[in-house]
Amino acid sequence: MSTKPTKATISFDNNATPIELPMLSGTLGNDVIDIRALGKHGVYTYDPGFMATAACQSNITYIDGEKGLLLHRGYPIEQLAEHCDFLEVSYLLMHGELPNAEQKANFTKIISTHTMLHDQLSNIFRGFRRDAHPMAVMIGVVGSMSAFYFDAMDVYNPQHREISAYRLLAKMPTIAAWSYKYNLGQPFMQPQNKLNYAENFMHMMFATPCEEYTPNPVLAKAFEKILILHADHEQNASTSTVRLVGSSGANPFASISAGIASLWGPAHGGANEATLQMLEEMGDVSRIGEFIKRAKDKTDSFRLMGFGHRVYRSMDPRASIMQKTCYEVLNELGLHDDPIFKLAMELEKIALEDDYFVSKKLYPNVDFYSGIVMRAMGIPNSMFTAIFALARTAGWIAQWSEMNADPEHKIGRPRQLYTGEARREFMPIDKRA
Ligand code: SDX
Repeated sequence: MSTKPTKATISFDNNATPIELPMLSGTLGNDVIDIRALGKHGVYTYDPGFMATAACQSNITYIDGEKGLLLHRGYPIEQLAEHCDFLEVSYLLMHGELPNAEQKANFTKIISTHTMLHDQLSNIFRGFRRDAHPMAVMIGVVGSMSAFYFDAMDVYNPQHREISAYRLLAKMPTIAAWSYKYNLGQPFMQPQNKLNYAENFMHMMFATPCEEYTPNPVLAKAFEKILILHADHEQNASTSTVRLVGSSGANPFASISAGIASLWGPAHGGANEATLQMLEEMGDVSRIGEFIKRAKDKTDSFRLMGFGHRVYRSMDPRASIMQKTCYEVLNELGLHDDPIFKLAMELEKIALEDDYFVSKKLYPNVDFYSGIVMRAMGIPNSMFTAIFALARTAGWIAQWSEMNADPEHKIGRPRQLYTGEARREFMPIDKRA
């Protein structure tokens, strides 16, 4: 059994002095070459898109892309999705252990008493056009929380970090649901503390002041699962954004608002909305070949939405659970013949038999089925990414807190490979070509 290397040596083909760098090992996953001292040797590494760069140490989530493994604080996502509710997983992400019965009851109570928004915050929504995308509204409203909850924004104070984290986790469902109500022109529904996290969100989304609304328990359970599957995912683009923004000491609301902005992109969290748009445009199994052809065409920027992943080189474990949840919800609603779901399953089958997708190890990711489930639950396409942001807030605040709790953390400041003009002298305007 070969021992793990403790050093890496970089040698140069011009016989310059080789550089020795230490190697670090984690609990699981690839070892890393510690390049922090590289700068003093006059060279940098180059890795746009961070294809092979570890930007931090973390104890929160681990993904094995080859095996399709996703662990939160060591627990497999399949077991958490099966046995936990979202607040239990949020507690695990934030505190490192699953809560015991007393801790869970206290945590749930605290979160339920922070679900209301400051009354003047409702005015922020009214600054937007009625047809504003919910993600635009959430970016604005979450960022404006810095102006309402500034009594606990010292990022180096653990108590401040905790209360801000709890406020964000508690208020995101209200903010997301009100973003939707604002689009509809319906009155905002206040949170109901007697309801659990998922039921409360569904109530704020679908209830009106005119009649009683009782959340369907099967749909509420499915929604908890959707939230759990989206809670955290290592150093993805939006989490890395939250860390980079937070590394300057920015307050938690500004940091999370930046994370929402990053998640909105169709290559990231916006893919669930884009997937459903793609399926609706595809319309029928007879057009699957046309879309797959476009996805394979290098001259066409079209990508098969909901397919592929930077880390997973096998099925995203969340996609498998989401497909099963999709089936349960459609059955509960008597929509097992839902044409969009059937089209998605046929597309997945055909794509996974196509050499292009097989050779590039492109499998369905978490966004492939999530939109179909949410659409079946009556949630409009425009809210899919807002719900992803709602769920990912648990991971973002856990990662943001982990970074700020690290006494050695520094402001993130990448270097570059400069390819612009070398020094040149100013040219008076009458001398310019
Ligand atoms: C999420 O990072 C995370 O963990 C994100 C996430 C999380 O929970 O935070 O998991 C959530 O964002 C999931 C991904 C959702 N996005 C999509 O479904 C959009 C479609 N997917 C692609 O845009 C793409 O697969 C990415 C963005 C997800 C990953 O892109 P990479 O890692 O930069 O891979 P790549 O673009 O270099 O692709 C490798 C090859 C390329 O072909 P070649 O240049 O090698 O010939 O695969 C091709 C790509 O053209 N490819 C696709 C494809 N995805 C990759 N071709 C067609 N359709 C696709 N979907």
